[in-house]
Amino acid sequence: MVFARIVDASYYLPERQVSNHELSESLDTTDEWIVKRTGIQSRHLLSDNETAASMAIAASQRLLSKCDISPDHIGSIIVATSTAHTAMPSTACQIANQLGIDQAFALDVNAACSGFLYALSLGKDRICIHADRYCLVIGVDAMSRILDWSDRSTAVLFGDGAGCVLLEPSVDQGLLAIRCGSESRGEQLLHVSGNLHTSDPSTLSMQGKEVFKFAVERLYSCARDLMQRHNISPESIDWVVPHQANIRILDQVSRQIGIPPDRIVKTLDQHANTSAASIPLALHTLLQSGNLKRGQRILFNAFGSGFTWGAAVCDF
Ligand code: ACO
Repeated sequence: MVFARIVDASYYLPERQVSNHELSESLDTTDEWIVKRTGIQSRHLLSDNETAASMAIAASQRLLSKCDISPDHIGSIIVATSTAHTAMPSTACQIANQLGIDQAFALDVNAACSGFLYALSLGKDRICIHADRYCLVIGVDAMSRILDWSDRSTAVLFGDGAGCVLLEPSVDQGLLAIRCGSESRGEQLLHVSGNLHTSDPSTLSMQGKEVFKFAVERLYSCARDLMQRHNISPESIDWVVPHQANIRILDQVSRQIGIPPDRIVKTLDQHANTSAASIPLALHTLLQSGNLKRGQRILFNAFGSGFTWGAAVCDF
């Protein structure tokens, strides 16, 4: 049997860091409220000349040079994003063009904050079914471009960034299980209004309390169901690398699954919610800390607009 194994991860974060204090100069909010209700202290925000594509390109470039992989060996590029600044070519094709990756399968997927796990699921198939030598899986979002900066209930929650992983085939370790899905309800609770075909501005709106309840329930049940189906016990999980939306969600879900809080990777204090980028950014942070060892088991889970959700278990 062939598995898709994560070789390594990399990232890009815009240089500009904006603290809660800085936001409170233009919004009716406080550092205390944001930290207490969300766990967020700071976020990175794009400069005027940056886009989701430029962040994805920078992250991918770093990853290829870190792994010393020639662009010729990349068989597929899968990008999860919901904030591409142009409709075409896709962000995946823009990466291919910039990095000189020729003949690759190149595709963007949009599943909002769950997008990285959807992309990882497709990446697994590229390795295990289509026999690609390497697959580049990227999560990137420019959330600051779709926020209503006068709405304190959403503007404080998000940040910009990109994270990526390289997958390769392996006979003894890799992605053991993955499942993504969507709900037949919830569209109006978290969506971007506006119309890309008119001058109607696109801004995100969310009924936070309702989304919170749904997120806790679904993040727990999708992780539980996946582990039960594949006979994976909570005790065997070394690290949880979840989508970073709210510290209270992470704490509640980890309690329900039965995984100690010190095994949950939390980066939202510094990154806020970077949507599709949050899981690969958190994985990169864990790798950089030196705490993730080869052979350890990781649980990923995510929840986002749609509603969409996903969970995956991977032996690193
Ligand atoms: N500063 C100060 N006060 C605020 C702020 C703020 N930034 N934002 C809201 N408030 C106020 C509200 O106006 C309200 O005041 P009121 O009681 O006088 O009416 C009060 O704080 C409580 O507001 P709630 O919305 O009830 O606050 P809550 O405790 O639910 O926290 C939050 C809000 C942080 C948004 C939380 O509900 C949440 O995290 N929801 C889930 C987010 C999520 O998981 N999203 C999915 C992924 S994102 C994606 O897919 C793109």
